Amino acid sequence: MKDCRTIIESAFLEKVGKRPERVVVRSPGRVNLIGEHTDYNEGFVLPASVDKAMVFVVSPRADGICHFYAADLKDEFSAAIASIERTQKGWPNYLLGVIEEMKKMGFNVPGCDVVFGGDIPIGAGMSSSAAVECGFAFALNQLFDFEISRIDLVKLGQRSENNFVGVNCGIMDQFVNIFGEDQKVLKIDCRSLAYEYFPFEREDLAIVLCETEAKRSLASSEYNVRRQQCETGVRILQKNRPDIRSLRDVNLEFLNEHRKQMEPIILQRCAYVVEENERVLRACEDLHRNDFRSFGEQMHRSHSGLRDGYQVSSPDLDFLVESASSISGVLGARMMGAGFGGCTINLVEQKSVDTFVEEMKEHYRQRTGKANNVYVTHIQSGTRLLPLIEN
Ligand code: GLA
Repeated sequence: MKDCRTIIESAFLEKVGKRPERVVVRSPGRVNLIGEHTDYNEGFVLPASVDKAMVFVVSPRADGICHFYAADLKDEFSAAIASIERTQKGWPNYLLGVIEEMKKMGFNVPGCDVVFGGDIPIGAGMSSSAAVECGFAFALNQLFDFEISRIDLVKLGQRSENNFVGVNCGIMDQFVNIFGEDQKVLKIDCRSLAYEYFPFEREDLAIVLCETEAKRSLASSEYNVRRQQCETGVRILQKNRPDIRSLRDVNLEFLNEHRKQMEPIILQRCAYVVEENERVLRACEDLHRNDFRSFGEQMHRSHSGLRDGYQVSSPDLDFLVESASSISGVLGARMMGAGFGGCTINLVEQKSVDTFVEEMKEHYRQRTGKANNVYVTHIQSGTRLLPLIEN
């Protein structure tokens, strides 16, 4: 099978032609080991960029037009940069939003031809959207020497999703897309944006993803509801302690002292976030100690919290987590990403991986009558420029 890069470069040659002035960028998807729905609460997350990625080939134009070709969809789109508007087509918005946000920062894109595509499964919760936003922003930054810093590319990617695509996401996906490194997981403090790498090079352990086939139809509306519930909780707590800025500033004891002031559902959401932040910190200590049993325990607890407290799991996701827990050699299993579909992430002993993959597929097929994708992912660097190959 041809690799993504070869496919995208041939598509570029066919659609745009030979262009000596061009950049080629690889922009990966991500996994998140632990720390779900904590980023927009100024908490902690522990993601890593992976070996599934988008490839972009971008060359300049001088006529004020941006022309996009989505190789996977075999679909194209053009717009005048001076008058960009959201389109019903959907996918171009992820690119248009980037140009729009660059314009707001005073960086004018004179025009561009863009061909992109890759192998990040869409809707699996591996953040293909951040890969498109940040990969494209990174490519334009290189091509036009804008000298936007890496952290500003992260924020630009997030703003384009918030403002143009209309999803009120946190900063985790864009951050790890740009800052991810080979064989390392990234602990991000989503308040200060301080970050720390933890080596994750264990040959005896594998990260395995099990997809559900469910469409994540509830994901964005429920995502925004959860955000609002957390904000409501913060407003109530602030009446007791005005210095509280987010759930990051709260511990369980404090939350319990003021539980009577909140509706049970708000308390439940806040408690999940506070506990999940603690789990991330504990999981990082486990990494320091190389204690993957305890790390896996935190993953299991994270899933219970997402299922019962935050209520963003789904019957299929719960089924996959329960099935995984019944297979030997599985240290941890939980749903990953925003929820309501997408996939589970599993920490599996290498010697059990083949059996795990087989059994998980069989369990899912018996339950739904459908096949699902189960695959081992490897941690690979964040968005990078690829050296040009002359054709
Ligand atoms: C999506 C968002 C992230 C994060 C996760 C949940 O992936 O894009 O910012 O909130 O959901 O942890």
